[in-house]
Amino acid sequence: MTDDVDDHAARFDEIAASYDEDHSAEYERTVELVVDYAAVDAEDTVLDLGAGTGAIALALAPHCARVIGRDPSSGMLEQAREKAQREGIETVEFGHGTFREPNVPEDADVDVVVSNFAMHHLDDAAKREAIDAIAALGPERFVLGDVMLFGEPDPAEPFYSPEVDDPATVGDLADAFTDAGFVLTAVDRVHEQVGVLVGERAPDSAAEGAETR
Ligand SMILES: C[S@@+](CC[C@H](N)C(=O)[O-])C[C@H]1O[C@@H](n2cnc3c(N)ncnc32)[C@H](O)[C@@H]1O
Repeated sequence: MTDDVDDHAARFDEIAASYDEDHSAEYERTVELVVDYAAVDAEDTVLDLGAGTGAIALALAPHCARVIGRDPSSGMLEQAREKAQREGIETVEFGHGTFREPNVPEDADVDVVVSNFAMHHLDDAAKREAIDAIAALGPERFVLGDVMLFGEPDPAEPFYSPEVDDPATVGDLADAFTDAGFVLTAVDRVHEQVGVLVGERAPDSAAEGAETR
């Protein structure tokens, strides 16, 4: 397993042109769930981390005010921009960024963060840092679709490539969400090794206290 972002970016640069040609049923279902759970409204600003060729960003853009797609692979970003242009979508901006350095524009107030099939490239400590950094952006909601382990992975048929991927258990991810201050509102199992987690911002305890006084 490599946790070097440049290695991952180079690998995705190579496959970017053919990335959208063949997706599994589990991938398609996860995209649907992430888009549905994002539940964006017309005023929302969305941040898509590990946006790739824009599957989630481009599906959400017609339903919200602004989508910021970030990815370290210039090849994937190029495909995403071409798709946006072909589809006439002007409210999405694709640019370089990573979980560690998402490069959120200063004028952006992020309402919803989404990430699909990207966080499993990080080791577990880096996943925690990423989830903490996402929480620090103050979104109402964080929707994560990814490779994640609901049980023991079948060593003969892992859904991921152990040499380049490092999926977490669902339990560890759930702990990271709640430790970062999200309330876990949905856990969907798409496959024994693929799922979607939804975190909503926990009610501000200070404000809650004030209300009950
Ligand atoms: C399997 S693709 C998923 C792309 C897209 N989200 C989708 O649903 O089709 C994984 C993406 O994660 C990106 N990635 C890898 N390491 C990353 C990191 N540290 N931060 C952000 N994105 C990363 C890759 O460049 C790649 O575009």
